[in-house]
Amino acid sequence: MDGFIKTLPKVELHLHIEGSLEPELMFTLAKRNGIDLPYESVAQVQAAYDFDDLQSFLDLYYQGAQVLLNEQDFYDLTWAYLKRCKADHVIHTEIFFDPQTHTARGVPFDAVINGITRALEDGQEQLNISSHTIMCFLRHLSEEDAIETLQQALPYKDKIIGVGLDSSEQGHPPEKFKRVFEQAKELGFLTVAHAGEEGPASNIWDGLDMLHISRVDHGVRCIEDESLVQHLMEKQIPLTVCPLSNVKLKVFDHMRDHNIVELLRKGLCVTVNSDDPAYFGGYMVDNFLAVAHALNPSKRELAKFTENAIEASFLTLEEKTALK
Ligand code: ADE
Ligand code: ZN
Repeated sequence: MDGFIKTLPKVELHLHIEGSLEPELMFTLAKRNGIDLPYESVAQVQAAYDFDDLQSFLDLYYQGAQVLLNEQDFYDLTWAYLKRCKADHVIHTEIFFDPQTHTARGVPFDAVINGITRALEDGQEQLNISSHTIMCFLRHLSEEDAIETLQQALPYKDKIIGVGLDSSEQGHPPEKFKRVFEQAKELGFLTVAHAGEEGPASNIWDGLDMLHISRVDHGVRCIEDESLVQHLMEKQIPLTVCPLSNVKLKVFDHMRDHNIVELLRKGLCVTVNSDDPAYFGGYMVDNFLAVAHALNPSKRELAKFTENAIEASFLTLEEKTALK
């Protein structure tokens, strides 16, 4: 089974590029940019990655991102992730980035987007990995801040396929971003949002009804609303589920309690993703292995995760057919 998982072709649809910052690269960039870290060693960083909930993770995630200053830093970060993709047989990836985490520190928007996309172009040429980029708004910041970020992105519109919504779900419901998502849609961006990770199933309904999202990021709390599960199944609305993340952030106590295989068996379009692999203990293969060992899906079911992810991707029909 492990050998099957390793070589199974995979498509990743839920990956925060800032969450792929490994402690080793964090130290390298801190040194290069003259930034003091509150850690002495890689082991100390890893020891700090013991989270109670989403917010306790986000605090360290935003702190770690402070070592990213120049275009080359974003290139190096993205390139390191793509090499992990290659090792894990990831053939296509759609990555999130959080521009506000960087522009709020004075990092120019173009340093972020140009560094990331230059690495993605090299990934296509040198590693044969195709990709898209999705810009996330931080939901703990204001609607005005998100609108300003959307404006900053316009010159780079050809490099960004969609917009998303991440950060603290509790207290920041989809409704807060209704208008900026409307604007983004009018401008031709696709939309996705984190919903039903820590927040209630009603956030998933609101993401669909108010933000017109094409995919739900996480969405595992849909299980609390039977009519929502039915709707997600009938409409085949994809869920980008992140198993290791959900256990690390205590959405589920143990992997054996995770509902990903249950949702798959109910006929939902669920996919496996790594979210913030440097913080949660693994990339795509690690997530598949953790699911397989705890929940005993068949090989056919594991392959279905990839088939679902191809279908749920923002590739064109022609590109999807070429991957199948
Ligand atoms: N930002 C990075 N990872 C996230 C997650 N799992 N949920 C919300 N915001 C995030
Ligand atoms: Zn996420």
